[in-house]
Amino acid sequence: MIILTADGIKKSYLYSISAQTLIVFTTLLFCLSASDGFAQQKTLSDFARAHGKWIGTAVKSSYTKNPNSVSESYQKIVASEFNIYVSENDFKMSSILKTRPENPFQIKISDLHTAGIDRLTKQASANKISKIRGHTLIWYRQAPEWLNQEAKTWNSQQIHSFAASYITAVLTYCKTKNAGIDDWDVVNEAIDDNASALRSDTWYDGVSDKQEFIDNCFHAARKADSKVRLTYNDYNVELTDGSSKNAYLLKMVAGMKKRRVPLDAVGIQSHFMGPDQNGEGGFTEAHADDFRKTFVALRHLKLYCIVTELDLRLPTDDENKEGNVTQIQLAEQGKQYQLIVSTALSEPNSPYLLLWGFSDHYSWIPSHFKGQGHGLLFDKNNQKKPAYHGIYNALNSLKKR
Ligand code: XIL
Repeated sequence: MIILTADGIKKSYLYSISAQTLIVFTTLLFCLSASDGFAQQKTLSDFARAHGKWIGTAVKSSYTKNPNSVSESYQKIVASEFNIYVSENDFKMSSILKTRPENPFQIKISDLHTAGIDRLTKQASANKISKIRGHTLIWYRQAPEWLNQEAKTWNSQQIHSFAASYITAVLTYCKTKNAGIDDWDVVNEAIDDNASALRSDTWYDGVSDKQEFIDNCFHAARKADSKVRLTYNDYNVELTDGSSKNAYLLKMVAGMKKRRVPLDAVGIQSHFMGPDQNGEGGFTEAHADDFRKTFVALRHLKLYCIVTELDLRLPTDDENKEGNVTQIQLAEQGKQYQLIVSTALSEPNSPYLLLWGFSDHYSWIPSHFKGQGHGLLFDKNNQKKPAYHGIYNALNSLKKR
């Protein structure tokens, strides 16, 4: 009897504990799964990492200068959702070479203004981000004013040696720093918008042969760092839709490979236009097919193809400034983001994808595209948009390779 009673009491005590625990646990589960917090506990980078990929963002200088100058939500998102960074502006020549070196044909590391590089690498390491993309070495825009003026007086040989010397100094600095900057855009946006030639509005217009100049930039980069992934980066080259810029790009890089120029990757910027106010247009399935073909064409050339600056801007209800967008538009934007990301990251030669920012509050779009905006994953209050969920779903459903 006693044993039975004691046993009975013990048992019922145990049962009551486990029943209670179960109720508490189930309630907790229910509450959590009802909230965004539990259902979305995983971040974009968790999924990317699980599939051996990286998902990244451009990072603002103001944040790396002083993290508290941006909102707390920006700080939280940038540190948790991504696993690769690129600096939006600090790695450009206008920052790194803002003052004229004593000898522009023999640039010393001490001539470089590396504070912007140092701030990003330091912040990345604080956020436990080990991969950083270098953007960009040779670009016709965001070059220092002294160069824009002085390069006009240089002959072809001088322009070549300036570029080689700059590339060597920057890559040597970054290599020595050993901070995970293992990809670089060596040349950015060299193809003309009408795509019949290379651009003719650049500070390097004085070279006798622009293609030879581009080739030499890559040779200088490889010489300076034998391991870094060397990339040619451009916009409006993403789709094989008969656009001549895409055709020009494919022909150009095929030629570079044939000449054994050390080119490892092509960056397709992907500043796309999303759906209109009725949710129509933007990036469709047909575009996705053309997009895929670019990855395949580059794979056949043994090149990586990397989405380097993705955003999907929306036309707003104001022609002049960033106005409002509709719910239908935002929902459709989410679907289109999903399509873009899943198409890109399903390709074997596409190891990562970078967004050109994540918050509509801090995007370059409204100031560069009249009457357009709302192109990123979080709204102006840094709340998740359907765009975020679209990317989330795309990463979540990537096939394991
Ligand atoms: C943009 C930055 O986002 C802006 O802040 C800056 O004023 C201009 O440059 N292609 C590129 C990027 O390669 O460097 C550009 O970044 C966007 C277009």
